[in-house]
Amino acid sequence: MLVRRTDPIGSSEITPEAHYLNRREFLAAAGLLGAGLTGVALPASASAAGRAQEPKALGKPYGLQSDDKPTPYKDVTSYNNFYEFGTGKDEPIENARGFVPRPWTVQVDGLVAKPASYQLEDFLKPSAVEDRIYRHRCVEAWSMVIPWRGIALADVIKRAQPTAAAKFVEFTTLMDPKRMPGQRSNVLQWPYVEGLRLDEALNPLAMLATGVYGRDLPNQNGAPLRLVVPWKYGFKGIKSIVRIRFVDKMPNSAWNLAAPQEYGFYSNVNPDVDHPRWSQAKERRIGEFSRRPTLMFNGYAEQVASMYAGMDLRKNY
Ligand code: MTE
Repeated sequence: MLVRRTDPIGSSEITPEAHYLNRREFLAAAGLLGAGLTGVALPASASAAGRAQEPKALGKPYGLQSDDKPTPYKDVTSYNNFYEFGTGKDEPIENARGFVPRPWTVQVDGLVAKPASYQLEDFLKPSAVEDRIYRHRCVEAWSMVIPWRGIALADVIKRAQPTAAAKFVEFTTLMDPKRMPGQRSNVLQWPYVEGLRLDEALNPLAMLATGVYGRDLPNQNGAPLRLVVPWKYGFKGIKSIVRIRFVDKMPNSAWNLAAPQEYGFYSNVNPDVDHPRWSQAKERRIGEFSRRPTLMFNGYAEQVASMYAGMDLRKNY
């Protein structure tokens, strides 16, 4: 996502990266992977051994089409955007290897009746843990289907008891350049921040994820706690959250700060509103060759469209 090497994504990266994955699949099919012949790191899903270890995709499917299949665990956990650990998709899995997401404190504050600072375990304990399989659409025009594990964001909000003045929720990632080497570069303004309107945050689809495929979140996916809002582009899914703050004004968001003309606050998946540098009408599902049409609100229109009734979605992109 680099625009001059700062877009969450970089249109120029889209095709080559898709080819890269496809090439690995081609090589796997040709039996060349695992034989040391390729010179590229393999997703284990591409090898017979990897397939045998594939964890079960747990959970209720939400908004999936009949041809949506969970993206293999290896791809979900090795093709990541997490600039705190490098700007390449294959860097977070390597650079976050030694990151220890414990102990972990989550601060809930701002315009609430019950501000508090929680240890992660206490923050999670009162809430029901659920497994849900969601579509995941990156603004770079690739997509996955991910079995998340987590808690409803609405549950956390209700516990905090926002005051009548609270209109938005701001999320902040850990700031720790010693542990997050990407924060030593100025590729983005740190810490990474994101925001939702309060009604969006209360939508039953919005989750705070603690896991994928029934396992704890790998570091590269945003351990120990990240946001999942499946009707929005992936960059709204802020990782490694340490603070949830209730505010009366629209919060900043990392990509809007970096390139406001390209990344708005709402960032709803919308095939009719192109990114200034590329079309959003189609997407490449990781692991597939041909592109598929992108769905309005990423296939979740029934659950979320009413929140935007009367809004000009070209202006509020
Ligand atoms: N959160 C933080 N803190 N830093 C990031 O660089 N990248 C975002 C989002 N959350 C990012 C982040 C982007 S651009 C995407 S597409 C998703 O995380 C990727 O999530 P995934 O790696 O689990 O697919």
